[in-house]
Amino acid sequence: MQGIGRACGKIILAGEHAVVYGEPALAGSIDRWTQVKIQARPGPLEISTPNTPGTKLQDDPRLLRAFLCVLPEEGFSVQIQGDLWIGRGLGSSASLSTALIRAWNNLQGGTSSQSDLEQQVMQLETVFHGQPSGIDPAVILRQGLVRFERGARPQAQPLTPPKPLRLVVIDSGTAGDTAALVERVRSGHPENDGTIRAIGQLTHRIERALNTPDALGPLLTENHRLLQDLGVSTPTLDRIVEQVLQAGALGSKLAGAGGGGVVIALVDATCEASVLGSMSAAGYRAFATDLPTRATS
Ligand code: MEV
Repeated sequence: MQGIGRACGKIILAGEHAVVYGEPALAGSIDRWTQVKIQARPGPLEISTPNTPGTKLQDDPRLLRAFLCVLPEEGFSVQIQGDLWIGRGLGSSASLSTALIRAWNNLQGGTSSQSDLEQQVMQLETVFHGQPSGIDPAVILRQGLVRFERGARPQAQPLTPPKPLRLVVIDSGTAGDTAALVERVRSGHPENDGTIRAIGQLTHRIERALNTPDALGPLLTENHRLLQDLGVSTPTLDRIVEQVLQAGALGSKLAGAGGGGVVIALVDATCEASVLGSMSAAGYRAFATDLPTRATS
């Protein structure tokens, strides 16, 4: 008896951190995936991934606590696979949670409505990240580009730019801790209020510029400067932003919680190769993608 579930990743184009305080954020799904396979077998729950053979993931208390929101303590093994970078601001925990719940439903021959699934994923997200806004599950479950606003009733409004945005995604080489970074911004409250409001206003301008990449680029870079002001960037993230701009990117910012994770660079056909080349020459792994992608599963 086995069940399989898959879920994509996401990129935040604008508005991270400010979204926690009710400001809008824009985010889209990307064609990178997490797959979870659950198999019935006797004994305590076992969680593994071929990426780190021999590591008993069930020994990670936070991961185990999240998994036990869905699975019983005994009788199953779980294998996690996929090409979504972990801990890099690409929504890996929401993607894993969604894939896990889908795999469990698949094994049991059941289904969840979209809103039930979103609530279940949020329960796991709370274990992983403390007080998340809910933007990651909203995007991963809808698979497209959305404007997300938290509130008594969170709103995820689909956006349909005439053509996808072309991004290069660069791994800074270290993971950011979302829960710790959200807490750092919270502890700087209310001094951070002005910056949070400024990010919210900028996000509205970014949404209006979605159809014009030349106007959009500088606004994304401005969003990065505001995230620097919030204290969630790092010297490495700042260096990558400057390097991709020198290589011709139209705009660039950290994406996700920061403190590590990824930088995104808005590119077009004339600069994509030089941006990818400059990152490869500097020793960073990177890939190009459309935002959003057409869902493949
Ligand atoms: C993390 O993907 C985005 C943050 O805004 C936190 C959240 O919205 O839950 C940093």
